[in-house]
Amino acid sequence: MKKKLIAGNWKMNGSLSANVSLLQAVLDGSKGLNCKAAVCVPAAYLAQAQSMLSGQSLIALGSQDVSAQEVGAYTGEISASMLKDFAVHYAIVGHSERRQYHAESDAIVALKAQRALSAGITPIVCVGETLAERQAGQTEEVVKRQLAAVIHTNGHCISEIVVAYEPVWAIGTGLTATPEQAQEVHAVLRSQLKAATSHSDRISILYGGSMNAANASQLLAQTDIDGGLIGGAALKAMDFLAIMAAGSTTP
Ligand code: PGA
Repeated sequence: MKKKLIAGNWKMNGSLSANVSLLQAVLDGSKGLNCKAAVCVPAAYLAQAQSMLSGQSLIALGSQDVSAQEVGAYTGEISASMLKDFAVHYAIVGHSERRQYHAESDAIVALKAQRALSAGITPIVCVGETLAERQAGQTEEVVKRQLAAVIHTNGHCISEIVVAYEPVWAIGTGLTATPEQAQEVHAVLRSQLKAATSHSDRISILYGGSMNAANASQLLAQTDIDGGLIGGAALKAMDFLAIMAAGSTTP
């Protein structure tokens, strides 16, 4: 049985002083918990978080993006090898906010996953449908298309990724997919991964979208939900710790 992975996505929140309180409280409260965990912090705070996380192994460091380019004249971009310099273990790629506000295509997301993998960083590949797509009955088609691009570009390395199903309509809205709705899509993604690699059992599929202390246990109890990608609730130590606790006890 895989341990659940609970990853916080801080998005564009935080400050040097706020990060110290949040991360210290998470570190103090997480001792003895039995899940995997990560915090994906803004790039500007990677060095700070790296130093606070050093010397322990429960909470890994993550970034929220990685460049699709390797090196060179790409102003503002941060390469996978730079992230590796700061001991980054996970990189979120293809978050819906990047697809939406930065016009990231499926092909770019697939390249980003490839850059991360070749630097030894685990990409957390986000897929998910908009409300309009769900209402039009296109959920399965959309998430399969998004994941297929990553599978196509990354071949057998696909067993090293993490997938996050994040319905766009559930992100930051307080609307959560029901455990049944989430499980249904996770099962689709699981069978797509099974068809792509004989090592698909290694791949964690996280749910993200208004997961919180109150709904985490039920979501995490679903057969194909291997963890959570947590936005808003990751900014409050007690809430994030409660989700980690749920991830430590749910089979
Ligand atoms: P949320 O965000 O938990 O605030 O809905 C999740 C995410 O965007 O990763």
